[in-house]
Amino acid sequence: MTNFPLATVYLESVDSTNNYLKRLIKESTLENGLAVMAKSQSSGRGRLGRTWLSGEGTLCMSIAIKNKYSEGFTLLAALAVYEGLKVFLDLPLEIKWPNDIISVNKKLAGILCERVNEYTVIGVGININDKSFSDEISHKATSMYLLSGKEYKVKEVFKALVKAFENTIEKYDYGFTKEALAKYKGLCANIGKNVRAKDFSGVAVDVLENGSLTIEAEGVLRQVSSGEVVVHDIY
Ligand code: BTN
Repeated sequence: MTNFPLATVYLESVDSTNNYLKRLIKESTLENGLAVMAKSQSSGRGRLGRTWLSGEGTLCMSIAIKNKYSEGFTLLAALAVYEGLKVFLDLPLEIKWPNDIISVNKKLAGILCERVNEYTVIGVGININDKSFSDEISHKATSMYLLSGKEYKVKEVFKALVKAFENTIEKYDYGFTKEALAKYKGLCANIGKNVRAKDFSGVAVDVLENGSLTIEAEGVLRQVSSGEVVVHDIY
């Protein structure tokens, strides 16, 4: 397991903070976990093979944690980001399965977890001081600035997020435990809503310890473990 506190590194620019940590792991030059933030990314990556575009107001960060593989870990990461953002925002925040942080039905932060050797690399993108978004995403994206009317120091948010990751991972002993699941379910925006998975629709009714979402479709309970689940009235 990785010992805390984590060491931190600040970069001016990088292709992707996840790629940066993955390279260190593959070269065996990463010692005991590391948290990195970059002012800009040239090839930021999102979930499901998407591109992650980040402006100056966005926090791009990644953390490498040595842990046992656990399917639900990516949902634990969402709990950590939620806790870190609560330090700054006195607003209702929710988690859209599996790990988007949303407020007032719009996305504030996204998470990309990748497994490399015995490490999980957790990449987090947070819209902090963004004043607007492109037409393509403005209906579904928001920022801390747009929600609160305040500007934030990106480095301060990074430090708070690192602390929140350390606290959350220690509290739940490096895994998506029953306690973590209970907390997650209380914050999950999908539960009780009409949702659309890749090839069926239904009502999201539960989240399991392995991180999958249970959807009741025509009287049958079906599990979704990956991919996009659109929530009616959200995105
Ligand atoms: C998503 O919502 O699809 C996940 C977005 C994750 C973006 C972050 S930015 C820092 C880290 N580096 C990457 O290339 N991606 C993650």
